[in-house]
Amino acid sequence: MRTAIVYASTHHGNTKKLVDAIAGEYPVAVFDAESVPVADLTGYDLIGFASGIAWGKFYESVERFAQISLPEGKRVFFLYTCADDSRDFAASLRDIAARRGAEDLGTYTCRGFNTYGPWKLVGGMNKKHPTADEIQGAVNFFAVLEKRFPPRSETERTPADAGTERGSALHAQIIKKRRH
Ligand SMILES: Cc1cc2nc3c(=O)[nH]c(=O)nc-3n(C[C@H](O)[C@H](O)[C@H](O)COP(=O)(O)O)c2cc1C
Repeated sequence: MRTAIVYASTHHGNTKKLVDAIAGEYPVAVFDAESVPVADLTGYDLIGFASGIAWGKFYESVERFAQISLPEGKRVFFLYTCADDSRDFAASLRDIAARRGAEDLGTYTCRGFNTYGPWKLVGGMNKKHPTADEIQGAVNFFAVLEKRFPPRSETERTPADAGTERGSALHAQIIKKRRH
């Protein structure tokens, strides 16, 4: 198993729906940053960070996990759900990854049910999000990455891989925005 996804989804489990859908179709190791604050990720080729958004950023637990546990030179991607998907909320995570020399493969985002603050009084916003289509969109996003960077067999790997993997650059930022 060569893909890991580190996630936190504490508000309504919105982001977890994306992560679960991916892990349901692909052999992915999933780490809940709320309960596992640190892990050895050196053996993973591809590392995803997934989170809801609070005050314009990925949740603190995911940021902290990345700060502590992201090895040098990995391929990374980002998933998030948020109230307002017209903005880019992955910048601080991308910065952490960039400082580790990571190759950024892209970002998938969609709206998620939100009851924070005054929205609670009216039953929340984005009530049906993420939709089945949006969840499938996350799986499709991952499928593209998986196809471009298939897991290597054990015989192709060397101990130095963890620090030196720098495949051809794929800089396409896949920011998916859905409007309903
Ligand atoms: C404390 C708090 C702060 C939030 N801040 C933002 C924000 O700055 N921008 C935004 O678009 N959504 C914001 N949201 C909405 C959540 O990001 C959204 O509901 C997300 O889908 C929750 O994901 P989760 O259920 O996986 O935790 C906030 C929600 C909470 C509870």
